[in-house]
Amino acid sequence: MKPWHPDTTAVDGFSGAAGRIDVEHVHVLREQFVDFMLGYKFAIDEITTKINILREDFNSTHEYNPIEHVRSRLKSPESVLEKVQRKNYPMNLAAIRENVLDIAGVRVVCSFISDIAAIRDRLVGQEDITVLEERDYIAHRKPNGYQSLHLIVSIPVFRSARTERIPVEIQIRTIAMDFWASLEHKIYYKYRGEVPPNLRSDLAQAAEVATQLDEKMEALHHQVDRTAQVRTN
Ligand code: GTP
Ligand code: MG
Repeated sequence: MKPWHPDTTAVDGFSGAAGRIDVEHVHVLREQFVDFMLGYKFAIDEITTKINILREDFNSTHEYNPIEHVRSRLKSPESVLEKVQRKNYPMNLAAIRENVLDIAGVRVVCSFISDIAAIRDRLVGQEDITVLEERDYIAHRKPNGYQSLHLIVSIPVFRSARTERIPVEIQIRTIAMDFWASLEHKIYYKYRGEVPPNLRSDLAQAAEVATQLDEKMEALHHQVDRTAQVRTN
């Protein structure tokens, strides 16, 4: 069978002659999809390495670590396909690459609010990174209280036979924002999106408290920094 260009493959086009499923066809589609997903895994590896380099370099040059932890996730093939169906995107790999921009996700949790911009600027400034989209849910908090800086970037991945530009969603937030988001996520799922009004307002209040904590911690952090500078001068 002639190999298809992966970018024009129809994922759902597996009816063979007389409407029968062509087993070989399905096998090829499956392999192409696995290979397509592998590119996203590599993109996560690259972004994670970049973040780890920043972390280590900050530590070495400034004796300061702005990153608490880094997590990454690759969307499962099932949820990629579920999103394509839900959003009515065309069912082919080129359309999936263009439309589903959160297949590869990396979350960076920082200590202080000011670390978020520091990490963002150092990533965005790298030659091989292109910003496709940026959403600042810190300057513009979501109505439910959600805060984070979201970037969709694309990065080249050098495969054995070709180079691909792969999109990666990067979320950057503080520990307090992360704490809030993980609890809100659990509550949202528990109520299947129908969070009762009293819980919604409690969550909004908790988001406000998280912001106050972040601001207080930031101020303390600067105060300690200044004291340390005076001591060493
Ligand atoms: P999707 O199409 O569903 O991916 O959303 P979107 O394209 O509108 O992107 P958005 O930037 O709003 O959200 C992307 C991701 O941010 C989500 O998958 C979550 O991980 C996170 N996120 C966004 N909003 C919330 C929220 O209200 N609560 C929590 N806990 N996480 C959120
Ligand atoms: Mg998303």
